[in-house]
Amino acid sequence: MNAKLVELKEQFEKELSGVCELAELENIRIAYLGKKGSITDLLKGMKDLSPEEKKDFGQSVNILKNEATEKISAKMAELKEKEIEKVLNAMPEFDLSIPADLSRGSYHPITLVQRECERIFKSMGFNVEDYSEVVTDYECFEALNIPKHHPARDMQDTYYLENGQLLKSHTSAAQNAIYKKYKDALFNEGRPIKAIFPGRCFRNEATDACHENTFFQMEGVMVDKDISISNLIFFMKTMLSEVFKRDVKVRLRPGFFPFVEPGFELDISCAICGGEGCPSCKHSGWLELCPCGMIHPEVLKAGGIDPEEYTGFAFGLGLTRLAMMKYGVKDIRDLNGGNLKTLSQFTDDE
Ligand code: FA5
Repeated sequence: MNAKLVELKEQFEKELSGVCELAELENIRIAYLGKKGSITDLLKGMKDLSPEEKKDFGQSVNILKNEATEKISAKMAELKEKEIEKVLNAMPEFDLSIPADLSRGSYHPITLVQRECERIFKSMGFNVEDYSEVVTDYECFEALNIPKHHPARDMQDTYYLENGQLLKSHTSAAQNAIYKKYKDALFNEGRPIKAIFPGRCFRNEATDACHENTFFQMEGVMVDKDISISNLIFFMKTMLSEVFKRDVKVRLRPGFFPFVEPGFELDISCAICGGEGCPSCKHSGWLELCPCGMIHPEVLKAGGIDPEEYTGFAFGLGLTRLAMMKYGVKDIRDLNGGNLKTLSQFTDDE
């Protein structure tokens, strides 16, 4: 190895031995092995050498380059291990034998409202179903009479995975699977389909006092012969009076959703301002709470149910907004904030 190489090797090893931080190591890597690094530069100077010299010199530089790369990797592993050790040593010691202080825990207000709704609907003969958060385009849109490029998709922009699946933008995404699961009992045993399915939903939208990008809904469906709007109104009224245990002002107005016909918006008078108008209700005095309607024939068909023979209703209750109204939470974002001081004021009534 020529003198220049030996000198460079010694200088590299000396500098490397003094490194204590990953950032310093990266600087050394760049200084020696980077595009303009000293070792890389050696190769550039080979053009003036004879072919024989080129071969010997090139081999030596490559050996040095490989050695330097290996030494840098080894040093990096050593420094990373030291960093982990440093973090672990800085952590307070836990005594796992100390009994847990269970008195401190409390349920999240959304969990409380969800459980309350489940109790109410179970007592009226509804099954409680769970469904995944990652769904297909078919489940979330196509099966609900929302074909590709339908403008209704704009209302529910969500998060897409690389494999084409998506985070469900509404609990209606489970409707198709529910119809398919219960249709045989409906046809063969005459058992009406009665199911609720609470779940987390995701939308790619700007947040404000009454909109979150991650929130909870609870879907409900009932399918049988001769189900009508009066059945829907009865169940909605019962649910609201049971949840609030007092009279609440609601209004029903026409609403458009491709998966129901006719469709309604069920709004609740804002419990924060008493209907006067405030940021929680976007100054309208009303909060959209539970859109609903009679299930569209195409949606029943997609679920394997003959719309000539059976009818049904569906609703999509905004559970997070219900929790806001029930507990007087002014800003929906507080419910996802994880601030234990805010959340610990809610307790289970049971
Ligand atoms: C739907 O999601 C329909 N799938 C509901 C439905 C089901 C209609 C069955 C008919 C039959 P909408 O986008 O309006 O509709 O949402 C339903 C409810 O979820 C709203 O009324 C509201 O209470 C709640 N919600 C919607 N977006 C948000 C959000 N970004 N943050 C918090 N709550 C929301």
